[in-house]
Amino acid sequence: MLNNKVAYITGGTKGIGLGIASVLLNAGMRVAISGRNLDDAKAAAAQLSSDPSKVLAIQSNVRNFEDEDKALQEVKNHFGQVDLVVANAGLGHFAPVDELSVEAWQDMIDTNLTGVFYTLKASVEALKKSEGYFISIASLAGTNFFANGSGYNASKFGVVGFTQAAMLDLRKYNVKVSTIMPGSVKSHFNNHDPGDNDEWKIQPEDIGELIVDMMKMNPRTLPSKIEIRPTLPK
Ligand SMILES: NC(=O)c1ccc[n+]([C@@H]2O[C@H](COP(=O)([O-])OP(=O)(O)OC[C@H]3O[C@@H](n4cnc5c(N)ncnc54)[C@H](OP(=O)(O)O)[C@@H]3O)[C@@H](O)[C@H]2O)c1
Repeated sequence: MLNNKVAYITGGTKGIGLGIASVLLNAGMRVAISGRNLDDAKAAAAQLSSDPSKVLAIQSNVRNFEDEDKALQEVKNHFGQVDLVVANAGLGHFAPVDELSVEAWQDMIDTNLTGVFYTLKASVEALKKSEGYFISIASLAGTNFFANGSGYNASKFGVVGFTQAAMLDLRKYNVKVSTIMPGSVKSHFNNHDPGDNDEWKIQPEDIGELIVDMMKMNPRTLPSKIEIRPTLPK
């Protein structure tokens, strides 16, 4: 049932976004992935498939609305439709609040929170047309606050609230909206170099499988806010 449906994933060059893209492709979907640098996006797309009818690489910084608007136009021009948008791009800076720089705060709020709004704003009419699905990748940090996390917590609490309110606004158009709140995931987050010691974590592909299940769910039921965590944290 997912065959030839089209997904756009922000921050698809590595980590969670790339893992989601590979699972969606295997499920028969066509996939566009974005990142801040076109060469990086193209390299990630080449990893996924050499077939341009299946994969599209896009340069877009989610901090700029014009970039996101152009990105969605590219997806529509290339594939003709948009059925799923995953607002995944994000980053973290961690420091006690009295030491957190203005730049680090702005980077997180602009990327993790405003970026998700820009992605929804740029895609919402296409999603109304396809009666599609918008999913934000928030975090357990969107409900659990912790020391050194003030800026990251603020951005992710914001994304959870934003996505839930958007869900109430858009369901009358048969647009489904959900937020996924993962705990530790194996990725490059916060300059981490993923390796064998990360096997206890959620794997990016697991989030892809979750999204496939969400897409296949009977449309009368909407899992609007989903927490996932490693079964056995170290
Ligand atoms: N890893 C975890 O444990 C974990 C847990 C909960 C939630 N999350 C969330 O999951 C999402 C993905 O993170 P990850 O763990 O996969 O980290 P990652 O491996 O560092 O990947 C981050 C992705 O976001 C992209 N990105 C960053 N800033 C961007 C911007 N301004 N515009 C466009 N793309 C941008 C990066 O692309 P380029 O560098 O190529 O631009 C990259 O593809 C984030 O929202 C993060 O907060 C992660």
